[in-house]
Amino acid sequence: MISPNKYDIKDPELAEAGKRRIEWAYREMPVIKLIRERFQSEQPLKGIRISGCLHITSETANLALTLKDGGANLILCASNPLSTQDDVAAALVEYGIPVNAIKGEDETTYYRHINTALDHKPQLTIDDGADLVTTLHTKRSDLINNVLGGSEETTTGVIRLRSLEKAGKLKYPLIAVNDAQTKYLFDNRYGTGQSTIDGITRATNILWAGKNVVVCGYGWCGRGIALRARGMGAQVIVTEVEPLRALEATMDGYQVMTLQEAAKVGNIFITVSGDKNVIDKAHLESMQDGAILANSGHFNVEINIPALESLAKDKRRIRPFVDEYTLADGRHLYLLAEGRLINLAAAEGHPASVMDMSFANQALCMEYIVKNSDKLQPKVYPVPEAIDKQIARLKLQSMGIEIDTLTPEQKQYLTSWEEGT
Ligand SMILES: NC(=O)c1ccc[n+]([C@@H]2O[C@H](COP(=O)([O-])OP(=O)(O)OC[C@H]3O[C@@H](n4cnc5c(N)ncnc54)[C@H](O)[C@@H]3O)[C@@H](O)[C@H]2O)c1
Repeated sequence: MISPNKYDIKDPELAEAGKRRIEWAYREMPVIKLIRERFQSEQPLKGIRISGCLHITSETANLALTLKDGGANLILCASNPLSTQDDVAAALVEYGIPVNAIKGEDETTYYRHINTALDHKPQLTIDDGADLVTTLHTKRSDLINNVLGGSEETTTGVIRLRSLEKAGKLKYPLIAVNDAQTKYLFDNRYGTGQSTIDGITRATNILWAGKNVVVCGYGWCGRGIALRARGMGAQVIVTEVEPLRALEATMDGYQVMTLQEAAKVGNIFITVSGDKNVIDKAHLESMQDGAILANSGHFNVEINIPALESLAKDKRRIRPFVDEYTLADGRHLYLLAEGRLINLAAAEGHPASVMDMSFANQALCMEYIVKNSDKLQPKVYPVPEAIDKQIARLKLQSMGIEIDTLTPEQKQYLTSWEEGT
């Protein structure tokens, strides 16, 4: 049995519902299933202690069970105070994986949970946003010598790790799972695209058709959100700071303008830039009555919430995940999910089918680090190309899709210079 002080969840009674939810997600995770079956027989993680700081969702549960079946001794905590599925947390505890995560936990509890996960003395870390790795490098650096390596799930986390590396302070090898093509091309684009629309719809029940939707940031996530909002009949405006991305958005058929201009006409604003105070006080001051503000970037810093609070004379929770701010001039602005990732807070995060690929990367990278730890330096590494390609092949296979192969003649032609006009 797990020691009771090793986990902290909302309610153990929710376990049965959580198990059904995990099972439902597993149906859409064929690549993880194949990896899990191999891990069960090969035990590549036998006896390895892993601390994972991830969104506690049904998809994460299937990753966790895969690692456990591969022999790992795993503990989990949440990577966001609002993203935990409490029933899944309860189910995982019943499956023998200690979880420290409660939906709606405050910041003190959030960090206490991270510290409990670190008390496990990890040999491998899995992070989503780099809060666990940062805590390990700052307040718990005495534990770093145990660590063989780790992986990072999201864009913002990879940015933080690269900055730690650049400062010469990174102490162990980390693999940037986010940067695998089988991750960002699908999870960030199609996953965030669909689940962000889902989260805003569930929180508000608004009609998208005919709305002016402003997407701040045209990266992999922004592209997906813009695409899906347009598919729902919205008129999409993109704001950017990178000329190439702005040009791409223009030629993809969206209006591109400054946020100061967009602020006057937008009905729904979605930040997804990984940046801070993207929607700032001056923008809030220009917005129309009734504007809805949502964030799908990793941290709740993209909308300047202190500025919103300072402009408001009144605030009330009008429905779950919707806070109505009444400004001094009588306008109302609606902030969703306290500015935290809307898709995980108000909906269920990405569909399992895309997390299948992201988490296949995570599982295979854990195995790779164990096998190669003697060769790896304290650096941020890309996911090995062979892993990325293998996941793409397995996913296609699971979808029943066959593709062509190069003939010997084509192989030769594509690597030569002699033949021309
Ligand atoms: N909600 C989710 O489930 C989920 C999933 C994956 C990633 N993320 C997070 O979403 C964020 C974006 O990820 P990404 O992969 O799209 O990153 P990205 O680097 O591909 O794109 C970010 C874009 O935002 C732009 N940008 C930066 N500052 C801006 C500003 N002030 N105004 C307008 N645009 C600005 C950048 O130029 C860039 O084009 C990150 O925080 C990432 O961790 C969330």
